[in-house]
Amino acid sequence: MSDYDAIVLGAGAAGLMCAGVAGQRGRHVLVIDHADRPGKKILISGGGRCNFTNTGTVPDRFVSANPHFARSALARYTPADFLDLVEAYGIAWHEKTLGQLFCDGSARQIVEMLMAECAKGGVEVALGRPITGVDHGDGRFRVTYGERTVSAPALVIATGGPSIPKMGATGFAYDLARRFGLKVVEPRPALVPLTLGGDELLFRELSGVATEVVARAGTASFREAALFTHHGLSGPAILQISTYWRHGDPIAIDFLPGRALGWLKQLKRDAPRATVARTLGAALPERLAAALGERLALTGTLADLSDAKLAAAETQLGAWRFNPTGTQGFAKAEVTVGGISTAELSSKTMEARRLSGLYAIGEAVDVTGWLGGYNFQWAWASGVAAGQAI
Ligand code: FDA
Repeated sequence: MSDYDAIVLGAGAAGLMCAGVAGQRGRHVLVIDHADRPGKKILISGGGRCNFTNTGTVPDRFVSANPHFARSALARYTPADFLDLVEAYGIAWHEKTLGQLFCDGSARQIVEMLMAECAKGGVEVALGRPITGVDHGDGRFRVTYGERTVSAPALVIATGGPSIPKMGATGFAYDLARRFGLKVVEPRPALVPLTLGGDELLFRELSGVATEVVARAGTASFREAALFTHHGLSGPAILQISTYWRHGDPIAIDFLPGRALGWLKQLKRDAPRATVARTLGAALPERLAAALGERLALTGTLADLSDAKLAAAETQLGAWRFNPTGTQGFAKAEVTVGGISTAELSSKTMEARRLSGLYAIGEAVDVTGWLGGYNFQWAWASGVAAGQAI
């Protein structure tokens, strides 16, 4: 049996970051992953350009049963810290919108950078063989993969969440955590399209239409684009709100964000002979304007409609209620909400309170960021926190 100072399970964003930091502190580290190459989700992220962080990172852009948990790690490893690393490797980057930073070239550069950091620290990376056993006794963790059994006093769970199983994502982290007596907050797909049924299926005819909206669920709201799909609703505003949405709850869509109350009435005064179709069509994509106008029974000219009818239409267009039947599930979810309970972990080191030497980082933990680079920032920050502790 080979001995290490630490074994990291998962060669993804958090695992590689953690291993590189620990290795460069002189720790003898082994990373194990069943995939045949490291960082597969990094490679497909951000449309192949990896939205690697967000300059607007603040703790309230993360969802967790304990909203304070992420504070410490996020404060100690910031987007600027990761950017320093990216620049030290000469990786060109740009800011898109809303503080989202992307590689100019390819996400591959981020994986190569993390592997180079691991190599600097003498980290061994074992790929392509399944983990068949994990045990703990006498203060050491023993892991069997392929034909080999290895041991270390520290074990880091960094196998992520179950979103996109066809890429090798699994619920392994949760099974392992439960076996060691750690609680798991019910995992749900997040940053995921929502499905519609019943009468709302009629919106299918709008498949491919996108428009800027404000999407609301409970107290959360996001002003970004929404997209009608064959299954229901997608686009950034919907993906964002899906993290907050619960089965059975409605969502409200403001199709005309930023309009002053009474704008239709005002238009009636200014251009009474304008048709409703043309008026809505000037503010919204034409097919959407026609579909909404039809559902609200708005026909003819503005002058044909009473002020009360126009006011009611405005209210509906400003808070159109959809009752999603569900989500498109883990198969299409960018991340998982829920995971290993933060109540089980130290927010400074990510070490389990009940079992010394066991750590959990990244998406495996019940911390989920907004769309836009926040999830990678959590992976880097939690990885660094554990890497400095093991
Ligand atoms: P990650 O999933 O990266 O790594 C886990 C590793 O564990 C994988 O290498 C996997 O093979 C391995 N593993 C799993 N089960 C195992 C088992 N049983 N045995 C051995 N190994 C196992 N975020 C963001 O901030 N910006 C973005 O642009 C994007 N874009 C994006 C696009 C798409 C399509 C998806 C699906 C996701 C994103 N994300 C994102 C989310 C981001 O990819 C995610 O939050 C991080 O990769 C999480 O990092 P982790 O290291 O925790 O898990």
